[in-house]
Amino acid sequence: MALQLGDVAPDFTAETTEGTISFHEWLGDGWGVLFSHPKDFTPVCTTELGEVSRLKGEFDRRNAKVIGLSVDPLESHERWVGDIGDATGHKLNFPLIADPDRKVADLYGMIHPNADNTLTVRSVFVIGPDKKVKLTITYPASTGRNFEEILRVIDSLQLTAGYSVATPVNWHDGEDVIIVPAVSDEDAKEKFPKGFRAIKPYLRYTPQPNR
Ligand code: BEZ
Repeated sequence: MALQLGDVAPDFTAETTEGTISFHEWLGDGWGVLFSHPKDFTPVCTTELGEVSRLKGEFDRRNAKVIGLSVDPLESHERWVGDIGDATGHKLNFPLIADPDRKVADLYGMIHPNADNTLTVRSVFVIGPDKKVKLTITYPASTGRNFEEILRVIDSLQLTAGYSVATPVNWHDGEDVIIVPAVSDEDAKEKFPKGFRAIKPYLRYTPQPNR
Protein backbone atom coordinates (compact mmCIF):
# COMPACT_ATOMS: atom_id res chain seq x y z
CA MET A 1 0.00 0.00 0.00
CA ALA A 2 1.19 3.52 -0.76
CA LEU A 3 2.77 5.54 2.02
CA GLN A 4 0.17 7.59 3.83
CA LEU A 5 0.22 10.64 6.06
CA GLY A 6 1.17 9.64 9.59
CA ASP A 7 3.22 6.61 8.47
CA VAL A 8 6.85 6.45 9.56
CA ALA A 9 9.02 7.43 6.57
CA PRO A 10 10.95 4.26 5.66
CA ASP A 11 14.62 4.31 6.62
CA PHE A 12 17.29 3.39 4.07
CA THR A 13 20.98 3.64 3.32
CA ALA A 14 21.94 5.09 -0.05
CA GLU A 15 24.79 6.61 -2.02
CA THR A 16 24.42 10.32 -2.66
CA THR A 17 26.44 13.12 -4.21
CA GLU A 18 27.49 13.97 -0.64
CA GLY A 19 28.50 10.43 0.37
CA THR A 20 26.62 7.44 1.77
CA ILE A 21 23.79 8.37 4.11
CA SER A 22 21.49 6.52 6.52
CA PHE A 23 18.30 8.44 6.01
CA HIS A 24 16.93 8.68 9.59
CA GLU A 25 20.36 9.46 10.99
CA TRP A 26 20.88 12.10 8.29
CA LEU A 27 17.50 13.68 9.11
CA GLY A 28 18.47 14.05 12.78
CA ASP A 29 15.74 15.70 14.82
CA GLY A 30 14.64 18.27 12.26
CA TRP A 31 12.30 18.30 9.27
CA GLY A 32 13.07 16.70 5.91
CA VAL A 33 11.95 16.98 2.30
CA LEU A 34 12.61 14.00 0.02
CA PHE A 35 11.73 14.46 -3.65
CA SER A 36 12.22 12.34 -6.75
CA HIS A 37 13.26 13.15 -10.31
CA PRO A 38 12.45 10.98 -13.32
CA LYS A 39 15.92 11.02 -14.84
CA ASP A 40 19.30 12.76 -14.99
CA PHE A 41 20.06 15.25 -17.78
CA THR A 42 16.41 16.13 -18.29
CA PRO A 43 15.29 19.73 -18.64
CA VAL A 44 12.51 20.06 -16.05
CA CYS A 45 14.55 18.26 -13.37
CA THR A 46 17.52 20.53 -14.06
CA THR A 47 15.40 23.62 -13.40
CA GLU A 48 13.96 22.10 -10.22
CA LEU A 49 17.34 21.23 -8.74
CA GLY A 50 18.64 24.73 -9.48
CA GLU A 51 15.57 26.24 -7.84
CA VAL A 52 15.85 24.13 -4.67
CA SER A 53 19.52 25.15 -4.45
CA ARG A 54 18.44 28.80 -4.71
CA LEU A 55 15.87 28.25 -1.93
CA LYS A 56 18.18 26.19 0.31
CA GLY A 57 18.56 29.05 2.82
CA GLU A 58 14.76 29.17 3.21
CA PHE A 59 14.65 25.43 3.98
CA ASP A 60 17.55 25.86 6.46
CA ARG A 61 15.64 28.68 8.19
CA ARG A 62 12.81 26.21 8.79
CA ASN A 63 15.21 23.52 10.07
CA ALA A 64 14.27 21.38 7.04
CA LYS A 65 16.87 19.32 5.17
CA VAL A 66 16.31 18.71 1.46
CA ILE A 67 17.36 15.64 -0.51
CA GLY A 68 16.63 14.70 -4.12
CA LEU A 69 16.57 11.29 -5.78
CA SER A 70 17.01 10.07 -9.32
CA VAL A 71 17.24 6.46 -10.46
CA ASP A 72 20.49 7.01 -12.36
CA PRO A 73 23.90 5.98 -10.94
CA LEU A 74 26.17 8.24 -8.89
CA GLU A 75 28.66 8.70 -11.72
CA SER A 76 25.85 10.15 -13.87
CA HIS A 77 24.69 12.45 -11.05
CA GLU A 78 28.23 13.75 -10.66
CA ARG A 79 28.37 14.74 -14.32
CA TRP A 80 24.87 16.27 -14.21
CA VAL A 81 25.69 18.44 -11.18
CA GLY A 82 28.00 20.57 -13.33
CA ASP A 83 25.21 21.19 -15.84
CA ILE A 84 22.76 22.21 -13.10
CA GLY A 85 25.07 25.01 -11.98
CA ASP A 86 25.77 26.12 -15.58
CA ALA A 87 22.14 26.05 -16.65
CA THR A 88 20.50 27.66 -13.62
CA GLY A 89 23.26 29.71 -12.00
CA HIS A 90 22.76 27.76 -8.77
CA LYS A 91 25.27 25.10 -7.82
CA LEU A 92 23.68 22.00 -6.30
CA ASN A 93 24.03 22.45 -2.52
CA PHE A 94 22.23 19.41 -1.10
CA PRO A 95 22.54 15.64 -1.65
CA LEU A 96 21.08 13.81 -4.62
CA ILE A 97 20.45 10.09 -4.03
CA ALA A 98 21.64 7.62 -6.68
CA ASP A 99 19.03 4.86 -6.83
CA PRO A 100 19.89 2.72 -9.88
CA ASP A 101 18.35 -0.43 -8.38
CA ARG A 102 15.18 1.55 -7.46
CA LYS A 103 15.47 0.47 -3.82
CA VAL A 104 14.38 3.81 -2.37
CA ALA A 105 11.96 4.51 -5.23
CA ASP A 106 10.13 1.24 -4.48
CA LEU A 107 10.17 1.83 -0.73
CA TYR A 108 8.45 5.19 -1.24
CA GLY A 109 6.19 4.18 -4.16
CA MET A 110 7.84 6.68 -6.50
CA ILE A 111 7.36 4.50 -9.58
CA HIS A 112 3.80 4.49 -10.91
CA PRO A 113 3.87 1.70 -13.49
CA ASN A 114 0.81 2.93 -15.38
CA ALA A 115 2.56 6.27 -15.93
CA ASP A 116 6.02 4.81 -16.62
CA ASN A 117 7.49 1.44 -15.74
CA THR A 118 11.00 2.57 -14.94
CA LEU A 119 11.15 6.32 -14.29
CA THR A 120 9.96 7.83 -11.03
CA VAL A 121 7.16 10.38 -10.98
CA ARG A 122 7.79 13.71 -9.23
CA SER A 123 7.07 12.72 -5.63
CA VAL A 124 7.52 14.97 -2.61
CA PHE A 125 7.53 13.75 0.99
CA VAL A 126 7.71 16.19 3.88
CA ILE A 127 8.83 14.38 7.01
CA GLY A 128 8.45 15.72 10.55
CA PRO A 129 10.94 15.55 13.43
CA ASP A 130 9.07 12.41 14.59
CA LYS A 131 10.06 10.79 11.21
CA LYS A 132 6.41 10.61 10.18
CA VAL A 133 5.15 11.61 6.76
CA LYS A 134 3.36 14.98 6.97
CA LEU A 135 2.76 15.70 3.29
CA THR A 136 2.85 13.78 0.04
CA ILE A 137 2.54 15.35 -3.40
CA THR A 138 2.76 13.61 -6.77
CA TYR A 139 3.32 15.50 -10.01
CA PRO A 140 3.69 14.07 -13.50
CA ALA A 141 7.12 14.06 -15.12
CA SER A 142 6.14 16.87 -17.48
CA THR A 143 5.26 19.41 -14.77
CA GLY A 144 7.91 21.09 -12.64
CA ARG A 145 6.96 21.54 -9.00
CA ASN A 146 6.47 24.78 -7.11
CA PHE A 147 8.96 24.63 -4.24
CA GLU A 148 7.67 27.91 -2.78
CA GLU A 149 4.51 25.89 -2.12
CA ILE A 150 6.51 23.26 -0.23
CA LEU A 151 7.95 26.04 1.96
CA ARG A 152 4.43 27.39 2.52
CA VAL A 153 3.21 23.96 3.65
CA ILE A 154 6.18 23.59 6.02
CA ASP A 155 5.28 26.99 7.54
CA SER A 156 1.72 25.75 8.04
CA LEU A 157 2.80 22.37 9.45
CA GLN A 158 5.24 23.98 11.89
CA LEU A 159 2.60 26.44 13.05
CA THR A 160 -0.19 23.91 13.46
CA ALA A 161 2.16 21.52 15.33
CA GLY A 162 2.59 24.18 18.03
CA TYR A 163 -0.89 25.77 18.29
CA SER A 164 -4.54 24.67 17.96
CA VAL A 165 -4.89 26.34 14.59
CA ALA A 166 -5.26 25.45 10.93
CA THR A 167 -4.40 27.63 7.92
CA PRO A 168 -6.96 28.81 5.36
CA VAL A 169 -6.88 28.72 1.59
CA ASN A 170 -3.81 30.39 0.04
CA TRP A 171 -2.47 31.27 3.50
CA HIS A 172 1.06 32.66 3.80
CA ASP A 173 3.23 33.11 6.86
CA GLY A 174 2.10 36.21 8.78
CA GLU A 175 -1.57 36.06 7.76
CA ASP A 176 -4.52 35.26 10.03
CA VAL A 177 -5.13 31.61 10.85
CA ILE A 178 -8.19 29.52 11.77
CA ILE A 179 -8.95 28.27 15.28
CA VAL A 180 -9.72 24.55 15.06
CA PRO A 181 -13.35 23.63 15.77
CA ALA A 182 -12.34 21.43 18.75
CA VAL A 183 -11.50 24.61 20.73
CA SER A 184 -14.57 26.21 22.35
CA ASP A 185 -15.09 29.99 22.19
CA GLU A 186 -14.41 30.12 25.90
CA ASP A 187 -11.07 28.32 25.58
CA ALA A 188 -10.22 30.34 22.46
CA LYS A 189 -10.44 33.58 24.49
CA GLU A 190 -7.76 32.23 26.78
CA LYS A 191 -5.59 30.54 24.16
CA PHE A 192 -5.62 33.44 21.69
CA PRO A 193 -5.22 36.65 23.70
CA LYS A 194 -5.06 38.71 20.48
CA GLY A 195 -8.76 37.84 20.06
CA PHE A 196 -10.69 36.23 17.22
CA ARG A 197 -13.47 37.02 14.81
CA ALA A 198 -16.18 34.47 14.04
CA ILE A 199 -17.50 34.48 10.48
CA LYS A 200 -19.51 31.33 11.33
CA PRO A 201 -19.47 29.47 14.66
CA TYR A 202 -17.03 27.01 13.04
CA LEU A 203 -14.95 29.58 11.11
CA ARG A 204 -12.99 31.76 13.49
CA TYR A 205 -9.92 33.76 12.49
CA THR A 206 -7.17 34.89 14.82
CA PRO A 207 -3.83 36.63 14.17
CA GLN A 208 -0.95 34.20 13.72
CA PRO A 209 -0.13 33.25 17.33
CA ASN A 210 3.67 33.02 16.99
CA ARG A 211 4.07 36.54 15.56
C1 BEZ B 1 12.23 16.50 -17.53
O1 BEZ B 1 12.74 16.55 -16.42
O2 BEZ B 1 12.34 17.42 -18.31
C2 BEZ B 1 11.40 15.32 -17.94
C3 BEZ B 1 11.72 14.06 -17.47
C4 BEZ B 1 10.98 12.98 -17.88
C5 BEZ B 1 9.91 13.16 -18.75
C6 BEZ B 1 9.59 14.44 -19.20
C7 BEZ B 1 10.34 15.53 -18.79
